Amino acid sequence: MKKITVIGAGNVGATCANVIANKDLAREVVLVDIKEGTAEGKALDIWQTSSILNFNTRVIGSTNDYLKTKGSGIVVITSGLPRKPGMSRDDLIKTNAMIVKEVTEKVIRYSPEAIIIIVSNPLDVMTYCAYKAALKDERKVFGMAGILDTGRYKAFIADALKISPKDIHSMLLGGHGDTMVPLPRYTSIGGIPITELLNKEEIDKIVERTRKGGGELVNLMGTSAWYAPGAAAAQMVEAIVDDQQRIFPVCAKLNGEYGLRDVFLGVPVKLGANGIEEIIELKLGKDEKKAVEESAASVKSMMDVLDAMNLFEE
Ligand code: NAI
Ligand code: 2OP
Repeated sequence: MKKITVIGAGNVGATCANVIANKDLAREVVLVDIKEGTAEGKALDIWQTSSILNFNTRVIGSTNDYLKTKGSGIVVITSGLPRKPGMSRDDLIKTNAMIVKEVTEKVIRYSPEAIIIIVSNPLDVMTYCAYKAALKDERKVFGMAGILDTGRYKAFIADALKISPKDIHSMLLGGHGDTMVPLPRYTSIGGIPITELLNKEEIDKIVERTRKGGGELVNLMGTSAWYAPGAAAAQMVEAIVDDQQRIFPVCAKLNGEYGLRDVFLGVPVKLGANGIEEIIELKLGKDEKKAVEESAASVKSMMDVLDAMNLFEE
């Protein structure tokens, strides 16, 4: 791909740009931030690893100059405040909605065809916000959370079983918050259902730690995580650039799938060159369905908070 832009050169944005460059996914990566010099500095630092790590992708930084982003095929939006200890992701809605709206409008002005991946929190609501600001096909505006959450889930399973995380396959539904729904019934290790390898109590403990995985890191570091979030967003970029048709949990707009409509929620999708190529509907048990509906209701209530801010003219 010719050009990929990452908005926000903070912890997650810089990490994401670094992974994209390391994997040589584009001719050029443009990193944008409002803090004078931050994007330029981090871009230069990443570019200076090119001869050491053996990649060609040029990394360029810009302080708020969107002309440099012109013609991007993919834009990853990470700009916004991260949470501090004691805060929920939802506490960020007011500040981050203004930022996400503003940057999405600028992105679209210069790259009307771009596929947009949202990372800023609260994730599901910010994806809705970017969708409203971008005024484009819902299959081209979606959010990253599920790859991160399943990444955490798989890391905990790998530790519990002392096995390679590479052999674990899993799926997860719902919003990026405490109501997320990891699915042990759709989790296997080398093709073996997890229920054959761990007992219910052990699985429940892993599910609970996954749900609170973001908070665990905030408590350790005083700010939220970045290595896994940055790498997870870059994995979505890779699936699009290489038209991989990979199946990942992604925050997408639902139009009747799972019996839900007009809500942005984590669901399995097929990701390829056109963005979301297909939403996959899993057969759910009664409890799983109930948990997904509760998660959707929680996201919907935050979407209502965004609507009440009246940021968008109808
Ligand atoms: P950070 O504070 O390190 O970086 C955010 C960057 O955004 C800062 O450099 C800031 O100057 C920049 N920024 C603020 N307003 C801007 C604007 N109008 N235009 C351009 N840049 C602007 O924060 P971090 O850790 O990188 O997190 C970024 C966001 O991602 C947070 O909202 C965080 O909660 C979210 N996040 C989401 C995850 C997910 O799974 N979806 C995982 C981890 C973080
Ligand atoms: C995370 O889960 C805070 O959403 C961020 O790490």
